Amino acid sequence: MKLRLRITWLSCLVALSATLLRAENIPDLFLHDGVSLNGEWKCIVDPYETGFYDYRREQRDLNSNPSRAETFFLDAKPTGPGERVEFDFDTSPSLIVPGDWNTQRPELLYYEGSLWYRRKFDFAGLTAGQRVFVRFGAVNYRADVYLNGKKLGTHIGGFTPFTFEATQLLKQGANSLVVKVDNTRAKDGVPTLSTDWWNYGGITREVKLVTVPKKFIADHRFALESENTHVISGWVQINGAGEGESVQLSIPELGEKLFVKTDASGRAAFRFTPARLRLWSPETPKLYEVSIAHGGDTVVEPIGFRTVRTQGKQILLNGKPVFLRGICIHEEFPLNGGGRVNTADKAKQLLLWAKDLNCNFVRLAHYPHNEAMTRLADELGLLVWSEVPVYWTIDWTNAETYQNAQNQLSDNIERDANRASIIIWSLANETPVGEARTKFLSKLAMQARSLDQTRLLSAAMEKHAKPGAENINVVQDPLADIVDVVAFNQYVGWYDGLPEMCGKVSWEVSYNKPVFISEFGGDARQGLHGSKDQRWTEEYQEDLYRQTIPMLDKIDGLVGFSPWLLLDFRSPRRVLPGIQDGFNRKGLISSEGARKKAFFVLQEYYQKRAEAGKLANLNPKK
Ligand code: GCU
Repeated sequence: MKLRLRITWLSCLVALSATLLRAENIPDLFLHDGVSLNGEWKCIVDPYETGFYDYRREQRDLNSNPSRAETFFLDAKPTGPGERVEFDFDTSPSLIVPGDWNTQRPELLYYEGSLWYRRKFDFAGLTAGQRVFVRFGAVNYRADVYLNGKKLGTHIGGFTPFTFEATQLLKQGANSLVVKVDNTRAKDGVPTLSTDWWNYGGITREVKLVTVPKKFIADHRFALESENTHVISGWVQINGAGEGESVQLSIPELGEKLFVKTDASGRAAFRFTPARLRLWSPETPKLYEVSIAHGGDTVVEPIGFRTVRTQGKQILLNGKPVFLRGICIHEEFPLNGGGRVNTADKAKQLLLWAKDLNCNFVRLAHYPHNEAMTRLADELGLLVWSEVPVYWTIDWTNAETYQNAQNQLSDNIERDANRASIIIWSLANETPVGEARTKFLSKLAMQARSLDQTRLLSAAMEKHAKPGAENINVVQDPLADIVDVVAFNQYVGWYDGLPEMCGKVSWEVSYNKPVFISEFGGDARQGLHGSKDQRWTEEYQEDLYRQTIPMLDKIDGLVGFSPWLLLDFRSPRRVLPGIQDGFNRKGLISSEGARKKAFFVLQEYYQKRAEAGKLANLNPKK
């Protein structure tokens, strides 16, 4: 009997600690001022996870008295000449945060495993009721976070923000924040073992310490209900508030100021109609400064107001048909050694290259990009396809894998729900049709719709040859019945025959929904010239674009495409010496920033599409 009580008590303790240790996603902490913890962090490369498991492979942070000698999260120093401590962050090397480790040190380029980061900081202390959170923009892939030797928690997923409350563990004066990052790929991961991109590990986005009052603004939604009535509705969530607390909303440029009351859950709903309103669009990316105040807490953010919906085979932006002049983009900056985008300037450069291409749309592949990308898309007037890394052969029957995917989808939607630029949430990329996969994705679709009814759902599916008619391409995927926009990747002329095949195939996409081509393209080594029949030359890629575009233009219900892709990018799959050298070369711009000939083919086509669009808006069809 006694043993059973002990086990029950222990299981309750583990469950409680798991709850306490759960990473939270509190979107509006991004908008609160805080202390940046970016910059130099000391680091220890730990391929055998010596700092995390003892020599019997027992997890040290489950030990109530872990050894000071090897437990890295204790950040211990010898207390006397005789004490054995076999690590020392102070005399270890540094890495810059935010940033991947792969491109900061040559010996880490291919590193896959655990690496410890340590940041010391002083803290002035708290006044009554204040709370402190540590917010990570993203860590790839698993993060185990410790403050002053105690566990704050664990987060899994490489591209979405997470937060731990630090109030109880912070000290006045010196503090030690230690993060174990593990970028090891896993079969049950999201993404799974195989991807066509570099597995950049590290604290790849910003880290901030945020102090808030006992009751603080945690989240909000603003959405335009109709492009005709200009009714704006939404809600504000006050963490720690009960019923009847007053929240002030103001949009000074519109002369709007209103007070709303919270309900018992601390949520204050609102609905109002400004006297005048300029709608957001790529042509007129109008943003309004929206201010939210509750007690002494205030957040301000620029928000654009627009509507997006489908009507038969059209996508309507603010009630008008839109053609998506897109390009795919990885979150990777090619110059100065490459690596994950880790500054707003690099993010802006990627989007400016897309604007130079005459794009009005970017597909941010294959995972949520950093906050700067979507906020800059709002400012620059680029529509966005935002995607979670449910990529290729995910472990469809694994419940933890589904929960991981759902967490990443929810965190992505909650982070960016107020971004006018985002019009499509994408559930997946090139996942093999099958019962378990479709069940997984239809559940994910329901989750997305429960969180956001103001945007469209899609996924990059695959095309198939019509049985018995090899030159007729069709989409036969039950996922097409679930999403709003039927999108698929196609590589006729690269993986599927030669470019001349474009003139021989036809397409049957039999859904009364908009059709979007989410990828096409081919590799070219920039500067390699030859005949258009010579694979890997710029001329081959140029000809592929010249032949593909007219083929796609014939597809009934085509609302646009996003060729693969803006820039060459690192991939361990791409090993052809002298051509790929560890890079996927489908970029229209090389890894040195040079435009290839195909860039100008697409730029010219989009220029004509843009002019046609302007004319159409001037003379709308009756
Ligand atoms: C696939 C996939 C991309 C990949 C590309 C390629 O469609 O979606 O992630 O990089 O094709 O093979 O280059």
